Amino acid sequence: MSAAIQINTLSKTFANGRKALQQIDLCIAPGEMVALIGASGSGKSTLLRHMAGLMAGDAHAAGSVEIHGRTVQCNGKIAPDIRSVRSGVGFIFQQFNLVGRLPVIINVLAGTLHRVPLWRSLIRWFTSEEKARGIEALRRVGIAECWAQRASTLSGGQQQRAAIARAMVQGARVVLADEPIASLDPESARKVMEVLARVNREDQCTVVVSLHQVNVAMKYCARAIALHQGKVVYDGPSVGLTPEVLRGLYGAEADDILSLGDHISSLEDKLKPVPHLVWPAAMRPLARVA
Ligand SMILES: Nc1ncnc2c1ncn2[C@@H]1O[C@H](COP(=O)(O)OP(=O)(O)OP(=O)(O)O)[C@@H](O)[C@H]1O
Ligand SMILES: [Mg+2]
Repeated sequence: MSAAIQINTLSKTFANGRKALQQIDLCIAPGEMVALIGASGSGKSTLLRHMAGLMAGDAHAAGSVEIHGRTVQCNGKIAPDIRSVRSGVGFIFQQFNLVGRLPVIINVLAGTLHRVPLWRSLIRWFTSEEKARGIEALRRVGIAECWAQRASTLSGGQQQRAAIARAMVQGARVVLADEPIASLDPESARKVMEVLARVNREDQCTVVVSLHQVNVAMKYCARAIALHQGKVVYDGPSVGLTPEVLRGLYGAEADDILSLGDHISSLEDKLKPVPHLVWPAAMRPLARVA
């Protein structure tokens, strides 16, 4: 079976000379839920954007990204059929990316637009079956009652959940979420993380989520990948990211990460185990990368 996400020797140097990604090699198996952690500026957003083909790596280096065996980019060039590859990838941004003036259901059904003929999408006409799928996805993320509301009137957490519903309707097999809980209050953040975990567990969707809070990573993701100055410095079980390990990886910067605390686990459910939080024997063993 091919990897869900395969990255080989990917580097990114911005025009100002900043090396945001340095020789990244990663293999993420189908159905994994992986946290991407690291201090501000460590390269999390840049890596997620490269995974989605929203950004191309260095042209002079032989880097590549594949999703389910299909090329996203290679040697600094985005694949010509990227739209088709991307139709299987849902991207959740920190700053909500819904069209505020349109109803929630239309935003969610926008996830089907790659399948809908242009004339139908232009007049925003969806079949009743498509609408039912949209409502079902909204039900699964817990906001079915909001289907007719303008997206701009949803709370931040509801908007994130609507974006996840859109990825579900899109039929995404890979969901990439860039700090989806950064702007949310604890309860909303918890709901968003639970919904991502559900999509992962129930739909076997591969999820890569960048997070600042290590404890949230530990709670929801079996595997964590830590970045530091554009390099992978840790790739292994998230529970292995103890304060000592973090200090070894980040030095004084670890305190920035640790000082964020864990606003989710302070909630009532903090002791409730998350069923999928097991490190399958078949997966990669603890690997610390120098
Ligand atoms: N368009 C750009 N031009 C130049 N430098 C950039 C650009 N985008 C990002 N960078 C730099 O690349 C590095 C990685 O940025 P990135 O946004 O990926 O970090 P991050 O880990 O997502 O940080 P945060 O946690 O603050 O979101 C940073 O040093 C940033 O300043
Ligand atoms: Mg970022």
